[in-house]
Amino acid sequence: MTLQPVRGMRDFYPEDMRKREWLFSVWREASLLYGFEPYDAPVVENLDLLKRKAGEEIAEQLYSFKDKSGREIALRAEMTPSLARMIASRQNSIAMPAKWYAIAQCFRYERMTKGRKREHYQWNADILGVDDVSAETEIISLLIFALKKMGFGTEDVVVRINSRKIIEDILRKVGVPSELFSQTMIVIDKKDKIPSEELKRMLGEVPLKGDIPERLLDAVEKCSEGGAREFLGDGENIRQMDDLIENLGDFSEFVSFDVSVVRGLSYYTGIVFEAFGKRAGKRAIAGGGRYASLLEKIGGAPLSGVGFGFGDVVILDVLEESEKIPFTGINLDYYIIPYSKDYLSYAFSIARQIRNKGFSADIDFKCRKVKTALSDGSKKNALFCVMIFPEEHKDGRIKLKNMKTKEEKTLSAAEFFDSSIST
Ligand code: HAM
Repeated sequence: MTLQPVRGMRDFYPEDMRKREWLFSVWREASLLYGFEPYDAPVVENLDLLKRKAGEEIAEQLYSFKDKSGREIALRAEMTPSLARMIASRQNSIAMPAKWYAIAQCFRYERMTKGRKREHYQWNADILGVDDVSAETEIISLLIFALKKMGFGTEDVVVRINSRKIIEDILRKVGVPSELFSQTMIVIDKKDKIPSEELKRMLGEVPLKGDIPERLLDAVEKCSEGGAREFLGDGENIRQMDDLIENLGDFSEFVSFDVSVVRGLSYYTGIVFEAFGKRAGKRAIAGGGRYASLLEKIGGAPLSGVGFGFGDVVILDVLEESEKIPFTGINLDYYIIPYSKDYLSYAFSIARQIRNKGFSADIDFKCRKVKTALSDGSKKNALFCVMIFPEEHKDGRIKLKNMKTKEEKTLSAAEFFDSSIST
């Protein structure tokens, strides 16, 4: 029998958990500072909701099964369909705009590569009920704010922004038939990963006729290098991008307009964006965009949303590589060292009183040699060690060691609780 978790899934040992908890705390704090409210949903959803609303690629990766009553259900691969379902089911009573966030475990049966697992946690932040670029501004600002909180600067990360509407304008202009837009976009999305000859071949298979693949790739290149306005003229979609970049203020130094960012999910309708690590691997850290018709598609009233998903896998790798995870080991206030098992019961009573006062305490249950126990206390970053020795215990006293100054003093239990522990 194997002791390994299911392939692609992760165990979190305490040392992994510390890092994860730290990451989640950055996500939570950033969300709250930006005025987002937490929400959650079941990890299983109706297969129909997940399959029809997601991108084609995700639909193929679902962990789906039948429950004992024969219902077709699946583990969620992303949070957005559940969010849309929750909003749609109470659309009349939810105050708009809604700013919601979640940290959700998601499951995708993916081909595993570095940074891609079959299970990951994803921070989601979404704004619903705002049609103009204020929502994109707030969402992208939140993403950049969190990246900055993690210690990243413009030399480490970039948020590439595009608009599906701009790419549609380009496709129209080079003569791609509208019914082939979404397949064409899926190929364009791979631009940075695939050599251009191969891209041309894939575009030919869409099928784009004649010299359209070549002209399309040229146009994408030109527009990415700052020529979009020249190529498309000064239309509404270009102006919207200008407004967004202006609203981002000094955060705009983190963003770059890049027409090759398309994103694989089929529900995006407007601005789309992806955060990338600039160093080793240049991996995608987070991604999101505007979805104007998702709510309607699942049976709700028309309502536009914009949001992102930010996974834990790549960012933890990147943070680790750049040594940006602060030490998050255990931090005890008091470590209690009973001389022998005879003093354990007293140690429990001291620990109970310390904890009742709101300080953390742990006990050396094994009653090891004092030197060993003290070094254990130091490994647990205890501020103080409370030593219960036979001599002092006879007169109801304990020894208190300040682990930083190494100073030791003998105190009655009453003195300890009245003075030391309340300071
Ligand atoms: P997504 O691009 O599919 O978007 O995923 C968002 C992020 O989740 C990725 O950038 C990556 O950090 C992480 N991620 C996705 N799949 C995996 C995986 N197999 N292993 C590790 N990390 C992964 C969405 O899911 C959209 N629902 C985001 C969204 C929210 N759009 C609007 N609101």
